[in-house]
Amino acid sequence: MLIAIWAQDKNGLIGRNNRLPWHLPNDLRFFKETTVNHTLVMGRKTFEGMGGRPLPNRQTIVLTRDKEYHADNVLIMHSLDEVLAYDQENEGEIFIAGGSAIYTEFLPHCEKIYRTFIEASFEGDAYFPLMLWNKWQLIERKQGQRDEKNPYRYYFETYERAGS
Ligand SMILES: NC(=O)c1ccc[n+]([C@@H]2O[C@H](COP(=O)([O-])OP(=O)(O)OC[C@H]3O[C@@H](n4cnc5c(N)ncnc54)[C@H](OP(=O)(O)O)[C@@H]3O)[C@@H](O)[C@H]2O)c1
Repeated sequence: MLIAIWAQDKNGLIGRNNRLPWHLPNDLRFFKETTVNHTLVMGRKTFEGMGGRPLPNRQTIVLTRDKEYHADNVLIMHSLDEVLAYDQENEGEIFIAGGSAIYTEFLPHCEKIYRTFIEASFEGDAYFPLMLWNKWQLIERKQGQRDEKNPYRYYFETYERAGS
């Protein structure tokens, strides 16, 4: 099963210079707790923005069209279909973890969304793609805890496909 997971600001911004535009440790913790012991799929640019290393205790699939691309301790794949075949052959949850290009291609194949909505505006250069929200149903919306290290108002949201 494919599940999309991302954090965005109120304008749909998701990235700046291949990194996250904000520092929100509670969201990083949520990402870790949600994805640990599962599989992550990410684009080559997002992977390199994280230092070109996989996150611990998660199988990471890096997508690139470069047939020569190599990185240690990750699976390299070259197409959406290759990931869909992997999903068919393996049990468990596969988290679609960005960036913009990857969300655009994979969202039609996702059954669930975890979105962190940060009610603030940041500067950056990567946006979440336009999506058809009427195909999705909000299942849960929980406000994240605010403190000095997590100063924004933000929400952890879960969506499932409408009618599913
Ligand atoms: N806020 C969040 O939750 C979040 C999460 C993840 C990422 N981000 C942000 O998103 C931004 C990056 O997004 P991006 O769209 O520029 O890059 P990206 O999606 O991370 O990577 C794009 C690359 O993925 C490869 N790719 C894409 N589709 C493919 C396909 N069908 N088959 C094979 N390879 C494919 C290509 O690699 P090659 O060029 O090597 O062929 C392409 O250049 C960064 O700013 C990052 O910080 C934010």
